[in-house]
Amino acid sequence: MNVDTPPVCNYEGSDYQQSFWEKGGRAYEDAVEAIALRRLLPKGGARMLELGAGAGRNTHRYEGYEQIVLLDYSTTQLQQARERLGDSPKYKYIAADIYHLPFVSGLFDGATMIRTLHHMADARAALDQVRSVLQTGAIFILEYANKRNLKSILRYTFHRQAWNPFSPEPIEFADLNFDFHPLTVRAWLGLSKFAIQRTLTVSHFRVGFLKKIVPLKLLVWMDQVLQLTGEWWQLSPSIFLRTKAIGDTPAAQAGQFFKCPSCGAPLEDTPPQLVCSQCGLRFPVANGIYDFRLSEKQS
Ligand SMILES: C[S@@+](CC[C@H](N)C(=O)[O-])C[C@H]1O[C@@H](n2cnc3c(N)ncnc32)[C@H](O)[C@@H]1O
Repeated sequence: MNVDTPPVCNYEGSDYQQSFWEKGGRAYEDAVEAIALRRLLPKGGARMLELGAGAGRNTHRYEGYEQIVLLDYSTTQLQQARERLGDSPKYKYIAADIYHLPFVSGLFDGATMIRTLHHMADARAALDQVRSVLQTGAIFILEYANKRNLKSILRYTFHRQAWNPFSPEPIEFADLNFDFHPLTVRAWLGLSKFAIQRTLTVSHFRVGFLKKIVPLKLLVWMDQVLQLTGEWWQLSPSIFLRTKAIGDTPAAQAGQFFKCPSCGAPLEDTPPQLVCSQCGLRFPVANGIYDFRLSEKQS
């Protein structure tokens, strides 16, 4: 099926969780992200959508929610998450494209998108999609990669980098990897009807030699303090925002959950296959994973 949609950065078959997080010397980044999430997450809620969940590195941090829906484009990432978290009514595993979410309007009262916006060639469209499945008042926590960080400013000043960290447009520094200007992201969030409640700057010391010579605990403690300066200036490579869905989107009716990601008709949850009564598309459920990826369909 030909779908008119931005390209997806495909993690199918990737050992990202192991190579990047577990064996990649990222204990500092993981610890400071955990602190930021603790600061921003509500105590609990009904249903949380984790967008770009990967192998579920962060999922245990959302335990206050009654149900957590892990969404990722890659089935192999979701399979790793499922091996880690198991099968229970608390978790649902969804293979889908963030640009074509398969949920009815107002289904979630919480959502996170961590280390995923940076793969979005059309971040504005992605944020609109996220907003469409949240009910008014829902909390959305967004992490994004900041192009106006101290390292890029210094590199630009000393002519070691051609692109301007102060210009508002995203910079694609590698194929389907984007850094964003903080003011641009804030403007997009406003247009998508999110009100920003809190800003934390995170990973200030993401520098190889510092991570080698400074004890991990000290580095994490210093970042924990500096995170709070995010309300005034943002010079770190990673930024966490706590936002609230505004506008007028009622909560989804009880019993409604999925919609067809192609035509938008409500879908009945009938594993091992969901069939759209309007356009006839079929969506398989295999190994505990719902597959709503339109590009996987035959033309
Ligand atoms: C860098 S990983 C982050 C995983 C996890 N959030 C974490 O912080 O450990 C980015 C994830 O986003 C997913 N992804 C990228 N583009 C996507 C899209 N258009 N729709 C759904 N998932 C996408 C990838 O498959 C990958 O698992």
